[in-house]
Amino acid sequence: MKLVVKPGQRLQGTIGLNSTNCLPGDKSISHRAALLAAMAQGDSIIDHFLVSGVTLPLLDALRMLGLDWKLDGTTLFVNGRGMENWREPKTPIYCGNSATTLRLLAGALAASGISAQLDGTTGLRRRPMDRIVEPLQQMGVRVEASTENTAPLQFTARSFREQLRPIHYTLPVASAQVKSCLLLAAMAAEGTTTLIEPAPSRDHTERMLKSMGVEIQFPMSDPLQETAERQNSASEYMVRITPPDPLVLNPLHLTIPGDLSSAAFLIVAGIITPGSEITIKEVGLNPGRTGLLEALRQMGARIEISKMTERGGEPVGDITVRSSSLKAMQVYGPLVVRMIDEFPVFAIAAAFADGATLVCDAQELRTKESDRISALCQELNSIGVQATEMPDGFSIQGGKLPRGGLVNPHGDHRLVMSLAIAGLAAQQEVEVADAEIMDESFPGFIAILQQLGGDLRVN
Ligand code: S3P
Repeated sequence: MKLVVKPGQRLQGTIGLNSTNCLPGDKSISHRAALLAAMAQGDSIIDHFLVSGVTLPLLDALRMLGLDWKLDGTTLFVNGRGMENWREPKTPIYCGNSATTLRLLAGALAASGISAQLDGTTGLRRRPMDRIVEPLQQMGVRVEASTENTAPLQFTARSFREQLRPIHYTLPVASAQVKSCLLLAAMAAEGTTTLIEPAPSRDHTERMLKSMGVEIQFPMSDPLQETAERQNSASEYMVRITPPDPLVLNPLHLTIPGDLSSAAFLIVAGIITPGSEITIKEVGLNPGRTGLLEALRQMGARIEISKMTERGGEPVGDITVRSSSLKAMQVYGPLVVRMIDEFPVFAIAAAFADGATLVCDAQELRTKESDRISALCQELNSIGVQATEMPDGFSIQGGKLPRGGLVNPHGDHRLVMSLAIAGLAAQQEVEVADAEIMDESFPGFIAILQQLGGDLRVN
């Protein structure tokens, strides 16, 4: 499927959580909610669950583990019966293209002690797995990766009674997926596990485990109190978890906030498209995710946050953006972790900013759904934006409207949507090839932009 985006229309309107075209539920929280509900004892009800290409393999995996669940629209019902009742899957569990599914499931399987194999697409088989396999092995988990330290991962059975070793472990990279995998494995450890991250990443797992009754300590910051400066200068982050004995987790009853990483496309669209004003309601504002908003504000973007409240232990609020003139900035350090999924669309904002924007300390971008440093620079150059690749980031010379043209998203959903957003304010049409993969995280992307006034069509 080819997505064709024509420039020249201003974007206006409000995207609500319950409107026909609403912002989908948060991807990270949806993954955690489904999996933790499966580990709990009792019936969980999860509203505004993200039903998409990355969460359906997780739901299929839960079925293979013997779990009973039902989807009614975007409401997910899970009948948890505790991990001791999980069943060994007869065939390998297919995680699709989702590293979150694979790494989180790996932690849960490690805790359950059942034998299973985790695998996925060729794209997923390229993602590094030594970052979870090594600490899991230190805990006593019998797990092996391929010789390239990638999927498939093979887990060998252990008795549910045989507890794992609690570890004191410093993560080599700040990663919420690695941290969450180890926190889930730690549920079967004999005592307290301590994890140290070089910089704070999203803490959805910590918040959810706490709401389910687990003894877990972590520096939970209040987004209303925290200053952006303090969050970005915060270096090491420590979390300590002591599993309940016996291992009983309370079921979940929650409404998942709108996904800020999906809202990010609409936010940048509203900023770079002249004459626009957009409000997006009830968006998740976890402090580990709000780096893009801070970066854009620093560049001069007109962004307002209102109606801050809490949903299921997560901060949420309404975001209003208006078209703005931007100036270039430098992004490095802990801020990089707090906007890790937003660099593709941040790069589009940078192309419209006055001056040269520089991104450093972002080598992790090379291990995402594509090598986001090289793929981004290549495709931006092809639509007339001067982007230069560096080992740990990129620079973008902004200020000249992208020319437009045909782009290749390199099998990466966030590249599809970011390049499409560039088309809304380019000199000529942007055509994105193989655009169907946007459904991995943002079903309804086209419909929402059309509702706001954008000229998008599918060929
Ligand atoms: C995620 C964590 C991030 C992010 C991914 C979702 C999560 O990955 O890029 O889209 O849900 O924990 P890393 O933890 O590998 O940085």
